[in-house]
Amino acid sequence: MERCRMQRRKAAAVTVSAYFELVFNLVKLIIQYYKELESEVVQVTEHVTVWETPMKRLEARNSFMACITSHGDISSTILIRMNGSSFKTLCTLLRDQGGLRCSWHMGIDEMVAIFLYTIAHNEKNRVLQKTCRRSGETISRVIKRVLNSVLKLHPILLRKPKPVLENLEDLRWKHFKNCLGALDGTIIDVRTTKEKKERYQMRKGTIGMNALGVCNQDLEFIYVLSGWEGSAHDGRFLRDAPIRPNGLKVPRGYYYLCDASYSNCQGFLAPY
Ligand SMILES: *[C@@H]1O[C@H](CO)[C@@H](O)[C@H](O)[C@H]1NC(C)=O
Repeated sequence: MERCRMQRRKAAAVTVSAYFELVFNLVKLIIQYYKELESEVVQVTEHVTVWETPMKRLEARNSFMACITSHGDISSTILIRMNGSSFKTLCTLLRDQGGLRCSWHMGIDEMVAIFLYTIAHNEKNRVLQKTCRRSGETISRVIKRVLNSVLKLHPILLRKPKPVLENLEDLRWKHFKNCLGALDGTIIDVRTTKEKKERYQMRKGTIGMNALGVCNQDLEFIYVLSGWEGSAHDGRFLRDAPIRPNGLKVPRGYYYLCDASYSNCQGFLAPY
């Protein structure tokens, strides 16, 4: 009798544990199923973003602009490398002095934001299409328009050089009497036609364009020269700067500081 009860209890325990295991496995299965379903859904939506509804697209555009104009200076500095007030000033300058006009579909602030975002992060057109929700053609056109307006601002944006005076307090500059600023070159990646490729090819095989920048003591640009092929030697490129129509002017007795690679090129340079 006793034994029989024990056996029955054991059997019941086994049944209960088996039952729990079954339920447990079932739940696990269901969770797994939903997880898979979810990942499939994500994949599908990622695939379909091209066919976003106009409303969604507008929302995404607005949130991109909000990150720049209304989420504070840290957010805008991360995205376009300047704070909100500087951004507004630049937009006004481009409109009033650079002749930038808004289009039927896009305001000046969005144009400038797309332009700045591109140059701040060296971003590709395809990436921008996703970030700004604009077509590749629109982005390319907008960037050209803003760039043309920025170029028109050169009398305002480029500074007149002022020489270092003897009584200057700044520790970094006070030993360089009559120095007008510092210059250096950099290489910008470009795409060229097949015929021009050879001239733009650099030592390591990349295709690039030389650019020369000259700054004053406050790191404000005085002069920029670009367009020389990447294969051109620094010296050749620099010799060209003073003899251009709007070239780099260096009065007698004044000089610029430069990287050692430029040092034997010109009389007006002093290596730092
Ligand atoms: C924005 O940045 C400019 C230039 O760096 C600076 O002069 C200005 O004070 C900044 N404005 C604010 C509100 O932080």
